[in-house]
Amino acid sequence: MKNFWQTIPKPFFVVAPMADVTDAAFRRMLATYGKPDVMWTEFVSADGLALAPEEGRKKLLADLIYDDEERPIVAQLFSSNEDHMEAAARLCAELGFDGIDINMGCPDRSIEKQGCGSAMIKTPHVAKKIIQAAKRGAPNLPISVKTRAGYNEDEIATWIPALLKERPAALTLHARTRKEMSKVPADWNRVARVVALRDEISPETVIIGNGDVLSLEDARQKITQSGADGAMVGRALFGNPWFFNKNQSLPHQLHTLPTHGVDREKIISADTSRSDIEYITIEERLRVLIEHSKLFVELLPHKSFNVMKKHYKAYVNGFPNAAQLRGQLMEQSDPAGVEAVVHEFLRLNSTN
Ligand SMILES: Cc1cc2nc3c(=O)[nH]c(=O)nc-3n(C[C@H](O)[C@H](O)[C@H](O)COP(=O)(O)O)c2cc1C
Repeated sequence: MKNFWQTIPKPFFVVAPMADVTDAAFRRMLATYGKPDVMWTEFVSADGLALAPEEGRKKLLADLIYDDEERPIVAQLFSSNEDHMEAAARLCAELGFDGIDINMGCPDRSIEKQGCGSAMIKTPHVAKKIIQAAKRGAPNLPISVKTRAGYNEDEIATWIPALLKERPAALTLHARTRKEMSKVPADWNRVARVVALRDEISPETVIIGNGDVLSLEDARQKITQSGADGAMVGRALFGNPWFFNKNQSLPHQLHTLPTHGVDREKIISADTSRSDIEYITIEERLRVLIEHSKLFVELLPHKSFNVMKKHYKAYVNGFPNAAQLRGQLMEQSDPAGVEAVVHEFLRLNSTN
């Protein structure tokens, strides 16, 4: 039977796994307001799933809750221990995931200390064994890998072939090295080089480019430039569950709040971090922010409410008095407080 990577129409657009961002609540928002072609969970420790005492394991399992409307959905795991990876992959298959992805790119020191994330780039022999272990644990699911272009320097010519020889169903390249972190622009020419290696070594592997995608249009251009099959989007999603909505109307047609004498074009162009959201009215953005906050508490009661604040910075941006509203939202600790602050803002700022 074909796996979903083999039948997915191209080019495709997917959600980047992001710890404390692409949690169950935000994925539900994405599924409602602009569904991506593939959804990804946050990364989850396979060691934790295998070893943690009951309470810790429950928390990790809570990171793996999802709804059918999010499908196809891939669970991302990390471990440098074969047995743990095999057991966690088996568990993800039992939980009904559509695929499993292995993190081989995270630069976080605490992850690297476990021999995981970017540290895998230094140990290709371990990386291979980990892919094989995931395949053993979930023989009927497609296994994919997400990685970077190298550790201290560009190692595409050696590291990527080592991975491709294991014939992963998909390979995502975050087009930076570990050393580059997110400080330099992602180099999509590197994605093109990975596509060329794929053609030679493992033609059935789907290649996904990742890094600095700002909008769907930008994603299309980067895909055309690199020859990738799809693009993965990370930070541009903060506070923007409409990102993948393909039926976007022309930008900035629908603003309804008064601009208090500030030129509307200036407000919009000052907001350079987001090119796709301006067609959503401010009232709608704030309504969705409240909906998101409520869902977060409902689905993820074990998580700190501060996690929502990354999204507030982005939802509340580029309109008059946004900074003031943002400041007030940052002080809230539950959805009721958020709702009250937003309603007061709308009462003071609305024309009707
Ligand atoms: C807050 C945050 C959390 C992240 N967590 C993960 C993760 O759990 N797994 C992973 O593979 N990458 C993680 N990443 C990296 C992203 O998936 C992505 O590779 C990176 O942000 C570059 O894409 P972008 O330029 O579109 O943001 C994270 C990035 C951010 C900003």
